[in-house]
Amino acid sequence: MSSNRDGMTKEYAADEIVVEWEPRLCFHSQNCVRALPQVFDDSRRPWVQVDAATADDVEAAVARCPSGALRTRRIGAQAPKRQQWSELRASENGPLLITGGVRILDAEGNTLYEGERAALCRCGGSSNKPFCDGTHKKNGFRG
Ligand code: FES
Repeated sequence: MSSNRDGMTKEYAADEIVVEWEPRLCFHSQNCVRALPQVFDDSRRPWVQVDAATADDVEAAVARCPSGALRTRRIGAQAPKRQQWSELRASENGPLLITGGVRILDAEGNTLYEGERAALCRCGGSSNKPFCDGTHKKNGFRG
């Protein structure tokens, strides 16, 4: 295990693949642990043992990480072309503002919205979650 240059990402390497873990993004969905417990075990240190499964299996398990805290890169492979990024910006004392195109799904995978911009509730008070309905102006949300 090592940390990369930004000091915020830990790296776990095997011969073919590197798993990167950025703890500040992790919300502990446990998807990785359920997918590949021999590799991802948060009761063990180090909690990632990349060489306990094939690189393909590790890659598939990491692809189930919903937060982006876990990522992989193949050793010797060219970095994939960067996609055009959408942008999420926290507004002062208000919603998360998304620009650049987004599709928002409910828990069953049904599309709630597709479009160029959206405002998502950060205060927890909206009656129209995940969208902001302006309640943050009345409930004293600061953030
Ligand atoms: S951020 Fe606007 S209602 Fe929660």
